[in-house]
Amino acid sequence: MEFQHKSVLLREAVESLKVKPDGVYVDGTLGGAGHAELVCSQLSAKGRFIGIDQDQDAIIAASERLEKYQDRVTIIRSNYCYMAKKLKELGISRVNGILLDLGVSSYQLDHAERGFTYRVDAPLDMRMDQRQEKTAGDIVNQYEEQELYRIIRDYGEDRFAKNIAKHIVKAREQKPIETTGELTEIIRHAIPMKIQATGGHPAKRTFQAIRIELNRELEVLRDSLDDMIDLLDDKGRISIITFHSLEDRIVKTSFKTNQDPCICPSNFPVCVCNRKSKGKVITRKPVLPSEKEIEENPRAKSAKLRVFERIR
Ligand SMILES: C[S@@+](CC[C@H](N)C(=O)[O-])C[C@H]1O[C@@H](n2cnc3c(N)ncnc32)[C@H](O)[C@@H]1O
Repeated sequence: MEFQHKSVLLREAVESLKVKPDGVYVDGTLGGAGHAELVCSQLSAKGRFIGIDQDQDAIIAASERLEKYQDRVTIIRSNYCYMAKKLKELGISRVNGILLDLGVSSYQLDHAERGFTYRVDAPLDMRMDQRQEKTAGDIVNQYEEQELYRIIRDYGEDRFAKNIAKHIVKAREQKPIETTGELTEIIRHAIPMKIQATGGHPAKRTFQAIRIELNRELEVLRDSLDDMIDLLDDKGRISIITFHSLEDRIVKTSFKTNQDPCICPSNFPVCVCNRKSKGKVITRKPVLPSEKEIEENPRAKSAKLRVFERIR
């Protein structure tokens, strides 16, 4: 199957990078290379583009799509948390722009066997990196009830988290929970019928929570932001598209702290903590998709783009 994915905030995200034709740009979530292709089309033969993704299917699709730019493109299968190390191996210590378009691709969601979707019955997988051993099934069948409750509450923001965790543990006492369909049925029983009638798909939040936990999405983002900002050259930009409030809060806080890192009490006449600003937040408010984009691509609905510019 073709790698089907409509890039979200395509023009806005790429414009925000202010691509210099001879510059060096990195996409840490290459996916189907939609954003990447637009960046590459603005580079000269002297420019460089490094695309990173941990999913083998994305690597294959992106390699094909970017073939015509192969003189300036390097594609790496890795987690973006290793970006600085991977760039160092290529002899690159500074870049002019970094893009992250977080979360899963439509391709990953549409391929039922990847186990990301509650819409089709498939093994409980949800690994973005197929080399990883742990799957969603391990979380569902092995985590303590309290841990399941915590992740469904914190990463799914589901108000029935406690009951869902309880139902999961009760069900797996009978037999292991093996498929997305089985899990969806268990969740249905844990959520009151009248909420199910109005509140969107009952399994949506729990699936999101398990996916975030399994792929360590929030930790990876939180732990990588400072390193990525440190890779930026003067006036280099990092542009990040998030899809839920937990990710957006991490990005917003990190950008703000990198702009104003001083922790001195406000009544101190001068700064004594000596923490220096690394640049400025370009987007005081996040850039949101237009109504037209949301109409054409409902997945764009929750997207937010934030941009930070390095000043050296
Ligand atoms: C929303 S898609 C990107 C789509 C892409 N911008 C496009 O226009 O085609 C997100 C991609 O990021 C990858 N991904 C998510 N987290 C990652 C991480 N920590 N390291 C590397 N790749 C990651 C996923 O495997 C997926 O292919």
